[in-house]
Amino acid sequence: LAKVEVDLASVPEGKNVIIKWRGKPVFIRHRTPHEIDEARAVDIKTLRDPQSDEDRVQKAEWLVMLGVCTHLGCVPIGESGDFGGWFCPCHGSHYDISGRIRKGPAPLNLEIPEYEFSSEESLTIG
Ligand code: FES
Repeated sequence: LAKVEVDLASVPEGKNVIIKWRGKPVFIRHRTPHEIDEARAVDIKTLRDPQSDEDRVQKAEWLVMLGVCTHLGCVPIGESGDFGGWFCPCHGSHYDISGRIRKGPAPLNLEIPEYEFSSEESLTIG
């Protein structure tokens, strides 16, 4: 399927869902206000792959990204790691609550796919 539609009403605040898109996992997190503050408080200059949280999301509460570690392609685990985001168990890469690489061998932040909010309650990936 080229495009996949996701019903956002089924994803409560503070929860992750994983959907399949073009054979790859896509992570969708409904972030809490605290998580958004945390993502935005980071000094971008300290990042390996410097990117502001604002540049990684269309709406602050919805983080949408490919669930593919930028090291060698494993699927990171949600709600784990040292930075409150994702942890890749293959070789120990830690991603923050914006999906940015913070520690471990991965060179880049988790990739953001093309997506749009097709309505208040739904998101189309692709
Ligand atoms: Fe994720 Fe190596 S594939 S750390």
